[in-house]
Amino acid sequence: MQEDEFKVTPWEVSGKVDYEKLMQQFGTQKISREILEEISDISRQKMHVMLRRNIFFSHRDLDLILKDYREGKGFFLYTGRAPSMGMHIGHLVPFLFTKWLQDIFNVNVYIEITDDEKFMRNQDYTLKQTSEWAYQNILDIIAVGFNPDKTFIFKDTEYIRNMYPLVTAIAKKLNFSQVKSTFGLDVSSNIGILFYPAIQIVPTMFENKRCLIPAAIDQDPYWRLQRDLAESLGYRKAAEIHSKFLPPLASSDGKMSSSIPESAVYLSDPPKTVEKKIMKYAFSGGQATTELQRKLGADLKVDVPYQWLYYIFEDNDDEMERITRDYSKGNMLTGEVKATLARKVNKLLEEHRERREKSKDEFSKFLYDGKLAKHMWEKIHS
Ligand code: TYM
Repeated sequence: MQEDEFKVTPWEVSGKVDYEKLMQQFGTQKISREILEEISDISRQKMHVMLRRNIFFSHRDLDLILKDYREGKGFFLYTGRAPSMGMHIGHLVPFLFTKWLQDIFNVNVYIEITDDEKFMRNQDYTLKQTSEWAYQNILDIIAVGFNPDKTFIFKDTEYIRNMYPLVTAIAKKLNFSQVKSTFGLDVSSNIGILFYPAIQIVPTMFENKRCLIPAAIDQDPYWRLQRDLAESLGYRKAAEIHSKFLPPLASSDGKMSSSIPESAVYLSDPPKTVEKKIMKYAFSGGQATTELQRKLGADLKVDVPYQWLYYIFEDNDDEMERITRDYSKGNMLTGEVKATLARKVNKLLEEHRERREKSKDEFSKFLYDGKLAKHMWEKIHS
């Protein structure tokens, strides 16, 4: 792969992602100042750090979502997770942001747990494993603090019977070459993964309102297919708000991967492990020696600890400005930036784990019982 090449699919992110180029390739739009002002106006509180700092950067039809909200038509949120052994900080990004949106707009959130997708994508995993991971991941998701009265979490292999009528209607609208080219599949791909997009599209039609999907931009291919067929089934095109990828610790390229343990911080990592990973593996844009750093300063564009602070962990704008200035001018050393980050990550994880313990008692409140699926079925057969 050449230096300026990159690849973004739902299953692989590699190279240095050029987000401007990606928006052009995918046909999405930058989140404009007007949209930000409107969200700020509605929320009447400080804008979420991920919007202020542009980690959520691109969208489709977010303006229509805000219009529907203003006109009292409402909307709903939908996001998801393909369960794995442990969730890392990158996976938390869409969930933290979705919770904020739920608080602001007071809307329903549907969360799809795709144990089927994970199983079918990986020859080595058993369905028993992906199902067990689903339970563990759901605890982490509940711990983010969603409203139990308005949040519905469902695992595909259990919930499928409620979704299946609509899955068939969607699958019938998708042809082999469309799915093959959208996802870069080939004739050796298993037929499960070829069919799977119909299952990820269904929840965009769970309510008779516009759906807004917060997720990293890797999930966009599904929504392109959804937008091609939704109206022919009597539903609206899904709207999206896309995030960039929180970079892996070891380099500012690609996305964090669960399969390279030192590149990610897991929600279950104890404080000492977090400290060690950040101090030892986090890629620094600082200079090789203290003297050089004092003289030349750090290259913030490649510095991962700085980027983690910027995108998520340093909410205070004045403090972030100070770090930016001091670190780039050499008045701050890499070790100080890393130590600040480790402290902040550990604080978030400690609070998260406390809430996760409580999630075990709340689990059943979040499971989706199929009430709304009846509405979908009736609509298709009417
Ligand atoms: P999954 O499990 O790969 O990822 C879960 C969510 O995390 C986002 N994500 C990241 N965001 C920021 N930085 C990163 N480094 C990072 N890595 C992953 C993903 O974009 C995703 O939002 N097929 C989906 C599961 C799914 C889904 C959905 C996701 C089903 N329905 C609707 C979003 C919306 C998957 O494999 O996600």
